[in-house]
Amino acid sequence: MPVHRLTPILLCLVLMWRTLTPVSSHPQHHRCQLIQQTALCNNLKLTTVPEGLPETIEELQLNYNHFQTLQDTSLLRYPSLTSLSLACNNLKKLESNTFQESKLLKNLNLANNSLYTGYEETSLALRKLPGLIALDLSENKLNDVMVALLLQNLTSLEYLNLSGNLLQRVDEASFSDLHLLKELDLQRNLIFEIDNAFGSSLNLQRLNLAFNNLPCLTDFDMIQLEVLNVSHNFIEWFISRQDLNDTFLLETLDLSHNKLLFFPFLPSQSHLRNLYLSHNVIRFYEHLADNVMFPNSTKTVEFYNFKKGINNVTAQLWDDSLHGDISSLEVLDLIGNHVEYFPQGFIQKMLTLSRLLLRTNCLRTLNLTSEQFSSSLYELDVSNNILNQVSADEDTLTTLGNLTYFNLSLNGLKWLPLELFSSLRSIRSVDLSYSNIDICLSTEAEISIHTNSTCVDWKNVISLRHLYLKGCNLKIIPNTAFTGLSLTLLELSDNPGLTVHKSIQSLSKTLQHLGLGNTYIQDIDLSHFQSLKSLNISNNFLANLPHSLQNLNLKVLDLRDNMLSTIPSGQANTLAAKLQTVFLTGNPFNCCQTEWFRTFEAAKTVNMVEQSAITCEDLYHRHNRVENSQSISCFNDGESILWYILLFVPIVLFFTGTSIIVFLTLKPTLLQKSIKKNCLRPTSY
Ligand SMILES: *[C@@H]1O[C@H](CO)[C@@H](O)[C@H](O)[C@H]1NC(C)=O
Ligand SMILES: *[C@@H]1O[C@H](CO)[C@@H](O)[C@H](O)[C@H]1NC(C)=O
Ligand SMILES: *[C@@H]1O[C@H](CO)[C@@H](O)[C@H](O)[C@H]1NC(C)=O
Ligand SMILES: *[C@@H]1O[C@H](CO)[C@@H](O)[C@H](O)[C@H]1NC(C)=O
Ligand SMILES: *[C@@H]1O[C@H](CO)[C@@H](O)[C@H](O)[C@H]1NC(C)=O
Ligand SMILES: *[C@@H]1O[C@H](CO)[C@@H](O)[C@H](O)[C@H]1NC(C)=O
Ligand SMILES: *[C@@H]1O[C@H](CO)[C@@H](O)[C@H](O)[C@H]1NC(C)=O
Ligand SMILES: *[C@@H]1O[C@H](CO)[C@@H](O)[C@H](O)[C@H]1NC(C)=O
Ligand SMILES: *[C@@H]1O[C@H](CO)[C@@H](O)[C@H](O)[C@H]1NC(C)=O
Ligand SMILES: *[C@@H]1O[C@H](CO)[C@@H](O)[C@H](O)[C@H]1NC(C)=O
Repeated sequence: MPVHRLTPILLCLVLMWRTLTPVSSHPQHHRCQLIQQTALCNNLKLTTVPEGLPETIEELQLNYNHFQTLQDTSLLRYPSLTSLSLACNNLKKLESNTFQESKLLKNLNLANNSLYTGYEETSLALRKLPGLIALDLSENKLNDVMVALLLQNLTSLEYLNLSGNLLQRVDEASFSDLHLLKELDLQRNLIFEIDNAFGSSLNLQRLNLAFNNLPCLTDFDMIQLEVLNVSHNFIEWFISRQDLNDTFLLETLDLSHNKLLFFPFLPSQSHLRNLYLSHNVIRFYEHLADNVMFPNSTKTVEFYNFKKGINNVTAQLWDDSLHGDISSLEVLDLIGNHVEYFPQGFIQKMLTLSRLLLRTNCLRTLNLTSEQFSSSLYELDVSNNILNQVSADEDTLTTLGNLTYFNLSLNGLKWLPLELFSSLRSIRSVDLSYSNIDICLSTEAEISIHTNSTCVDWKNVISLRHLYLKGCNLKIIPNTAFTGLSLTLLELSDNPGLTVHKSIQSLSKTLQHLGLGNTYIQDIDLSHFQSLKSLNISNNFLANLPHSLQNLNLKVLDLRDNMLSTIPSGQANTLAAKLQTVFLTGNPFNCCQTEWFRTFEAAKTVNMVEQSAITCEDLYHRHNRVENSQSISCFNDGESILWYILLFVPIVLFFTGTSIIVFLTLKPTLLQKSIKKNCLRPTSY
């Protein structure tokens, strides 16, 4: 990373690391650390520039000190400086002659200071830096006027960071001297208007306007720009100049987290590769262009530039050409929009599309045949839509030979092409969770061949590694369901009442993660699953741990919400030796049999997730934290005392009784007397 890109965040990290490591053992130079021509004097409570440093130093870091002013004379001793960093001080101004001898200075970092106080004098100081290339003024509470002044005459600047200030409007005057500017960061300001601000920045390649208050970007004409980030604004319209014949150099456009109603009107010629549109309200309106169905609907919208009355934009709303040039798109992120369908031929235009993310939209149908996806498609995420079927013919599926990740979950799917997965040659990960799809019995597969089917056939899809079938209402998995697969991950959780039979045994060599949470399984034999690293058997009414777990090399084990009352110490010991993470909450553990807890606790390598929430029941059915179970009086102790009492009381009674009787029979007179005395007392009437 070049020095001029050093950001305060990075500096903060460096500093934290530094405070954790012993300070350099060289006491000279005011405890600054010298590395070749660099002096590191960060976090030393300095208020002035140290004087004892070699005059030849080229880089000086003074971040996290207590500077308030940088004085005229501060840098006189160091004429070779090319890089100076004073981030995170409380700097109010730089005196006007600070840089009188710093003719070589190229990088200046003044981030996170209070330059709004002394910006006028500071601007005079900056003007003495005709060779400045990178300037960081982020987090200085600067407004429009201050910035305009500070940037005057900085004609050589290439990198400028103004993020986290108080800019509201930028116009022609804002950056007019910065002809060489390549990268401008205006994130996290309050900008609501851009008025021809970048007309003179013909070299600008990267512009970041994220987290501002922009309501729209019309008339976008920055041909030279490569990366534009306007995420997290309030943009409803993005419209590029349509009358330009030039090819825009735009490669990445981030319009996510805005209020776009329409797919952006992209430049008619560009090499745009990454388009991020997530979290807008985009949908397509091709159906409204139908004159028969909607004869009187509005079909054009005009945008006026009220101030000057020029550059009005008239958009034919339902006109396909307005989508612009999407032929080079590789990533299209439309997560969290309102897309119901794609206009005809839209997908087809993206010749090199590799990732299409459509999670959480309103797609009703997906016909892979008619959409004609490019053969470079690698990831397709259509999860959480309202698809009930996916259709495709075999030729289409063969074309999708690069498709690797396919997420169809949360659609309530009912129909899939039977040969879908066996035709996708590179398919590696399939998520079909929360569908109404079954796994075909072998006979069904033969009957419904070449048709859409309610069941899926997995057999011999050799590339497949991850298969998610959560919450599919699966009841029975045929014995041969997974034959020929080399799955490393199989997720079958949330299929209550599932019968797994022997089906998964064919995966015993390869499987690393198995999810069987909430399936009501009773016992399961996993003894041959030598690769298994992670097992989820939560929510299953298990009263005992399956014995076969002992022989496995488990790292992660989820046992939450079962009926375990204890874990026998033999099992606890073997598990503790291998486990890294174990989930145990929601079991009715017995407070008097918690040896396992201490075993896991003693094994420092085991992380018991939510340890303090693991509870056990004591003698009186009270819930206690297992952590505290040692101080709980246990049923065992109570029981033994009870037994002692029950055993001793009759014996004692017996002996006392007999001795009294013996004593009394030996002295009959005494007996008679006492009987008389007690029973034949004369009555008082
Ligand atoms: C700054 O630029 C203005 C013109 O924009 C010029 O008149 C002035 O002399 C310049 N000042 C310095 C110090 O170069
Ligand atoms: C600009 O500064 C901010 C905060 O100081 C930082 O987060 C951001 O990464 C910097 N931008 C660039 C392009 O370095
Ligand atoms: C745009 O900026 C936001 C905020 O800094 C950032 O999270 C996002 O990753 C950026 N987008 C791109 C494509 O770099
Ligand atoms: C763009 O090209 C078209 C024909 O290719 C031409 O009629 C038009 O004048 C050109 N516009 C500009 C601004 O160069
Ligand atoms: C369309 O507009 C015409 C006249 O402007 C009107 O006569 C007609 O009823 C309208 N049709 C609909 C469907 O509103
Ligand atoms: C743009 O629209 C305004 C408002 O209708 C109008 O006054 C102006 O002449 C239009 N300008 C152009 C170039 O069409
Ligand atoms: C999918 O599209 C193809 C080609 O346009 C068409 O022949 C087929 O009938 C469509 N399938 C469905 C189920 O709509
Ligand atoms: C599939 O999509 C769902 C919902 O968007 C998500 O929760 C899940 O993690 C995804 N599956 C995979 C394997 O990434
Ligand atoms: C995969 O994509 C590459 C281009 O990204 C292409 O050359 C190749 O033919 C594709 N493979 C298949 C099987 O379609
Ligand atoms: C185990 O499966 C259950 C039920 O699907 C789920 O809620 C839980 O998050 C899973 N555990 C882990 C560690 O992912």
